[in-house]
Amino acid sequence: MSIYLNGAFMPIEEARVPVLDRGFIFGDGVYEVIPVYSRRPFRLAEHLKRLQHSLDGIKLPNPHSEAEWTDILNELIQRNEPEDQYLYLHITRGVARRDHAFPNPPVPPTVFALSNPLTTPSAEQLQHGIDCITVVDNRWLRCDIKSIALLPNVLLRQAAVDAGCAEAILIRDDAFLTEGAASNIFVVKNDKLLAPPKDNFMLPGITYDVILELAAANGIPYEVRRVTKAEVLSADELLLTSSTREVLAITTLDGKPVGDGKPGTMFTRLYPLYQTFKREVMRK
Ligand code: PDD
Repeated sequence: MSIYLNGAFMPIEEARVPVLDRGFIFGDGVYEVIPVYSRRPFRLAEHLKRLQHSLDGIKLPNPHSEAEWTDILNELIQRNEPEDQYLYLHITRGVARRDHAFPNPPVPPTVFALSNPLTTPSAEQLQHGIDCITVVDNRWLRCDIKSIALLPNVLLRQAAVDAGCAEAILIRDDAFLTEGAASNIFVVKNDKLLAPPKDNFMLPGITYDVILELAAANGIPYEVRRVTKAEVLSADELLLTSSTREVLAITTLDGKPVGDGKPGTMFTRLYPLYQTFKREVMRK
């Protein structure tokens, strides 16, 4: 497997980062995950825009122009086997003596990119949906930054796994839905899709955008607004989205069935629309 590190491509076994890297010491960096279909990165411009937003959020200058990123990532795609991949892109504030404040003068950032095979959800997950739990969203107030400091998300996801579930649904202030530990969440009530607003409490998902575009284009009613905890708990359907999990139905929540406990009519409508979009747009 070939990776990119600080200007060079190399086998992953040869890649080394010094222990004083601020990503290692402080989690001081940001990342992106970009799906690649038939060797084409999906919505690269949007992913690079979100990367810029994350970099701005941590006051780290972007080491590359959009054209440079495009060249690096396309070369990474070509150097790896699968037709469908997901790219992991990771930038830290570089290597410096340990001090919480930024290195002064600044040091070169560490830039790392990796390609993994993209595996889609299993037939079992598509047919039966997935189990989730609700948890307290105890993260910081800048969840719009795709920070590599993911300890809260790691612990929340593990709480789901320990409960035999696939994802944790995060509830802020015992009052409203934010997102999943590594996904966005939609509520369906009375045939309407309810989506939390893209604010500082959630990562603005690229797949989230696709779902709302598909809804708009196909006459599916939707509303973007705060979604309450009560609406989550009394939902007709719950949907999960991410670049690697596409769109999935959540069929149990905290051990109780969501709706009738089967993937519902909204999922059954949106899933084929997503697959058609993938075939006709993402792969072209
Ligand atoms: N995570 N919210 C969080 C907290 C996420 O980590 C992710 C994706 C999303 C969905 O964003 P998108 O649709 O752009 O993938 C929402 C990636 C897949 C990850 O960390 O592996």
